[in-house]
Amino acid sequence: MAPHVSCFFLAVLLTASCEVITSSGQTCIEKEANKTYNCENLGLREIPATLPNSTECLEFSFNFLPTIQSTTFSRLINLTYLDLTRY
Ligand SMILES: *[C@@H]1O[C@H](CO)[C@@H](O)[C@H](O)[C@H]1NC(C)=O
Ligand SMILES: *[C@@H]1O[C@H](CO)[C@@H](O)[C@H](O)[C@H]1NC(C)=O
Ligand SMILES: *[C@@H]1O[C@H](CO)[C@@H](O)[C@H](O)[C@H]1NC(C)=O
Repeated sequence: MAPHVSCFFLAVLLTASCEVITSSGQTCIEKEANKTYNCENLGLREIPATLPNSTECLEFSFNFLPTIQSTTFSRLINLTYLDLTRY
């Protein structure tokens, strides 16, 4: 009986941590509302749809943008600072 219970809890814990990792991979840190976002080191392959297009400063280092197309950042018409160090 006891082993079944602990396996169940282990499964719940693993599922919970996977969800946390998945969601944090999609979430940029808001440093200044609608303006400055830090998306560093999230393993992102594209600009998250959650970024408002009023974003002015974007720190996007240590991600995996496969290519930078002209459309990649065009949504962010007010972008004036972009950090792509070691993207
Ligand atoms: C950010 O944008 C949202 C939606 O456009 C708006 O409701 C909110 O007031 C804005 N916040 C600031 C600080 O500009
Ligand atoms: C871009 O900046 C201008 C001037 O601050 C502002 O009027 C405009 O609403 C901004 N555009 C977006 C998409 O936030
Ligand atoms: C900015 O976002 C709003 C809704 O969030 C959208 O209606 C608008 O078309 C966007 N502007 C650009 C230039 O993408």
